[in-house]
Amino acid sequence: MEASAPAKVILFGEHAVVYGEPAIAVALNLRTTVEVYPGSEYTVNGYPMQDKYHSYIRNAIKLCWDNGPLEIITQSDIPSSSGMGSSASITVAMIAALLSSKGAVNEEDVAKLGFEVEYITQGRASPIDTSTVTHGKGILVDKTLRENYLWEIEKNGVVWRIHHIEVPELKLVVGFSGIRASTAEMVARVRRFYQWNSFARDVVKEIGKLTLSAIEPLESEDYEKIGELMDKNNKLLTILGVNHPVLKKMLEIARKHSYGAKITGAGGGGSIVALTDEQDEVVKALNSAGFEAYKVRISREGFRVENQN
Ligand code: PMV
Repeated sequence: MEASAPAKVILFGEHAVVYGEPAIAVALNLRTTVEVYPGSEYTVNGYPMQDKYHSYIRNAIKLCWDNGPLEIITQSDIPSSSGMGSSASITVAMIAALLSSKGAVNEEDVAKLGFEVEYITQGRASPIDTSTVTHGKGILVDKTLRENYLWEIEKNGVVWRIHHIEVPELKLVVGFSGIRASTAEMVARVRRFYQWNSFARDVVKEIGKLTLSAIEPLESEDYEKIGELMDKNNKLLTILGVNHPVLKKMLEIARKHSYGAKITGAGGGGSIVALTDEQDEVVKALNSAGFEAYKVRISREGFRVENQN
């Protein structure tokens, strides 16, 4: 069994989406491929499977497989802890590969199981990453039922309705700070602020409103406006406490050649995303300052079952 899934980047609404506010993410043209064979013991890339290193794969197996040990081989273009969804991508590719042994695989099943795996592996989370890499293209998460509705996921009283959203061929650069922050810890930190402080709850709502206001500019390819909204979203994330001095420096560098730029994903380290017409310039400027940076495009394709026997 063999399947692959793309990377992703969150354009608007991270953290707020954990509380049911809207968010927008797109799939990227980097992929993870998983090959799965029957084996005599569980192995990953030739080594015995270990909970510590292979928690997403292990939990995917737990939810989708009861048929004996597997030899698993993974290959990924996605740098880990880069904010580009390497864990969502391997989770979804793994689930698609396992389900493919039982017949045709549909997006909704993969997205729902993908969310469960992320949830049990990293604690509180939203389904944005796993739904984006399942579907490809662009995803709007919004509790309001809209046109292009795909599926709904519910956990602990929070409902996320996943919608397809039309996105243009955005030219993006993802810059990695080199600081590996744990998504679970950052989500927990924002959660404490959210629980105890009504101002934090207002900021979360504000991020939700801003995300909805980005739909029209995305549909009409108004890059100036999209960039302006990315900058504004970043200010609100800074208030939530997920910025970092290194990320601030990276944003300053990227903005010299961009319509706008923001932290993407959990923050506290991790990555920034910039919208630009000058991808090479942004990559060069970030590289010169000592940061890894990736020129990325939108992937129209979500998961793909490569080889179904
Ligand atoms: O760090 P990432 O790329 O996994 O993104 C996390 C996004 C959060 O909104 C902070 C958490 C979530 O699960 O939605």
